[in-house]
Amino acid sequence: MSSFRIIQVSDTHLSRERPFFCGNWDAVVTHINAAKPDLVINSGDIALNGADVEDDLRFSAEQHARLQVPVRTIPGNHDIGDNPASPDDAPKQPIADDRRRRYLAHFADEFWTQDAGDWRLVAMNAQLLGSGLPAEESQWSFLREAFKDAGRKPIALFLHKPLFKDEPGETNESKHRYVVPTPRQRLFDLARDTNLKLVACGHVHQHRIFEKDGITHVWAPSTAFILPDAYQPRIGTKEVGLVEYDFDGAEVAVRVVVADGMQQTNIIDVPGAYGDLSKKMAAHTPAVAAQ
Ligand SMILES: [Fe+2]
Ligand SMILES: [Fe+2]
Repeated sequence: MSSFRIIQVSDTHLSRERPFFCGNWDAVVTHINAAKPDLVINSGDIALNGADVEDDLRFSAEQHARLQVPVRTIPGNHDIGDNPASPDDAPKQPIADDRRRRYLAHFADEFWTQDAGDWRLVAMNAQLLGSGLPAEESQWSFLREAFKDAGRKPIALFLHKPLFKDEPGETNESKHRYVVPTPRQRLFDLARDTNLKLVACGHVHQHRIFEKDGITHVWAPSTAFILPDAYQPRIGTKEVGLVEYDFDGAEVAVRVVVADGMQQTNIIDVPGAYGDLSKKMAAHTPAVAAQ
C-alpha cells in the first residue's frame, strides 16, 4: 500500500500582458513549493487567452516552471478553444488544430496517464469531445487502452469540464458548462467495467465535492477569480483556492485549501480581463465564455 499526494490547480488564467491573476498565482507557487506534493495537475484554462494569444501560453509555461515539483496539465477552453455543444453550435473560439498545436508547443500533452501510488491517473482533453477533429478519435483510443490497462486499479479521471451537474443522464443543463450528453455517455460506457472512483475537473470557478453512483466528483476552484451570481448560478462554493489529494492505498482524502495571500477576486471587478461584465450582463451578452 503506497501513498501519493497531488495538488490540483485550475483556471489560473495567466497572462504576461494582462497579469490580473498573477498575485494569486504567486501565493499558489509559495504554497506548493512548501507543501512539496508528488505531482501538480493544472486542469485547464491555464492561460487567460491562450486560444488566441500565444504569449499567454508561453508565459503560463514559464510560470509553471517555478514549481519545484513535477507538473502535468490538460487544456481548457481558454487554452485551445471550445467544442461545439451540438452540430449547429458555433463557439466564439472553437477548438482547432492550430490552437491545439500552439498549446502543445508549450505544454507536453493534452491527454495522458500515469500511476500515482496504487491509483491510475487518466487525464483527457474535454474540448475534443464533439469537436470532429482527428484527435478526438485518437483520444477515444487512448481512453479505451488506458481504462483497459488499469485493470482493477482505482482510477482518477481529470478533465477540464464537469461531466454533469446532478445526474449522469441529464440533458438540459448549460451546454458549455458540462461535457455534452452523447460523449458523456460514451465515456461512462467505456468506464463501466473499470474501478473509476474519482472524477476531477475545473472550469466552473466554483468548488464542490459530491458522490454519485460510487464515484467522487471534485470541482476544483479557480486560483484566479469567481463570477457574480447575476451572471452565473451558485452551484457549489464561490471561492478561489486549490485542491489537495492524499492517496493512501485505495483511499483518497480530498480538501479545498485557500493558500495564504490569495485574494477573492470577482471578475466583475476586473474589466480588463474579459471585458466589462456589468455592461455585458445588461446587454445579456455572455462575456466569459462557457463557465
Ligand atoms: Fe476558467
Ligand atoms: Fe473553462
